[in-house]
Amino acid sequence: MAGDSLLSVPAAATSRRLEGKVALITGAAMSIGECIARSFCKHGAKVVIADIQDDLGKSVAEDLGAHVALFVHCDVTIESDVEKAVDTAVSIFGKLDIMVNNAAVADPRKPSIVENELIDFERVVKVNLIGPFLGTKHAARVMIPARQGSIITLGSVCSSVGGVASHAYTSTKHAIVGLAKNAAAELGQFGIRVNCLSCYFVETPLTMKFFKMEEDGGRDGVYSNLKGVKLKEEDVAEAAIYLASDESKYMSGHNLALDGGFTTINPAFGLFSRNA
Ligand SMILES: NC(=O)c1ccc[n+]([C@@H]2O[C@H](COP(=O)([O-])OP(=O)(O)OC[C@H]3O[C@@H](n4cnc5c(N)ncnc54)[C@H](O)[C@@H]3O)[C@@H](O)[C@H]2O)c1
Repeated sequence: MAGDSLLSVPAAATSRRLEGKVALITGAAMSIGECIARSFCKHGAKVVIADIQDDLGKSVAEDLGAHVALFVHCDVTIESDVEKAVDTAVSIFGKLDIMVNNAAVADPRKPSIVENELIDFERVVKVNLIGPFLGTKHAARVMIPARQGSIITLGSVCSSVGGVASHAYTSTKHAIVGLAKNAAAELGQFGIRVNCLSCYFVETPLTMKFFKMEEDGGRDGVYSNLKGVKLKEEDVAEAAIYLASDESKYMSGHNLALDGGFTTINPAFGLFSRNA
């Protein structure tokens, strides 16, 4: 029957999966965070774009439209900024259903821990770990009375393996998984879910700077397990929609790996040919 293929498309693929929900996304002025904000809006959510890049953040919000998006200046390392961003979501859009702790930074690439400066390590800890702590704390503050919510923190392959990025970045990306598990343990009693979303390499200013790559073909030198597929910001946004939506209603305390198997496979033994 002609209609069969249409009928077989999962409802989730066609419907607005975040209809009526309100989301706050940190670091949403560009790259993965911007893509998550735009994708959430497409699926019916209202979004608060929180970032330190005011002009870029405002332009993303204006492009989406004032009825569905607004920009708030928010440095995730400053508690009063995070508190204000959460309160703005509630005062303008009426509630907060989804918190996405996306903002993160990397430190300069240095080959030896001996050369790592304390000041760089502390800066990364402040943005990548204290930021998600403050985001989780203030999201929970307004989600607990509502007795529902989904908190998502962006992890990385560096959340589960070593040797990919700097000591500071790897430490913080491991730590946020612990934070998410602990927050999930506490907040489950209020119906609030807390998860991490850990993706493989996506070409953004953060990775291009860290890996010192040119925009074109930059990832070619980076080992990837899954051939023939290029991970894009849209794929990360798609996974974030899943964790934000009711489709993942029983998922909490989880670190969702979006990495083509990178962190579960150790190719060093060479059992399988990689020349296929
Ligand atoms: N790009 C990748 O390959 C990759 C891979 C794994 C995980 N991630 C994670 O995805 C997330 C987004 O990464 P990206 O590549 O889009 O980064 P990006 O550097 O391209 O963008 C980061 C955004 O965060 C904002 N930001 C930085 N410091 C901030 C602060 N103190 N307060 C508020 N906002 C701040 C920046 O202004 C920017 O808009 C990060 O958590 C990163 O660790 C990225």
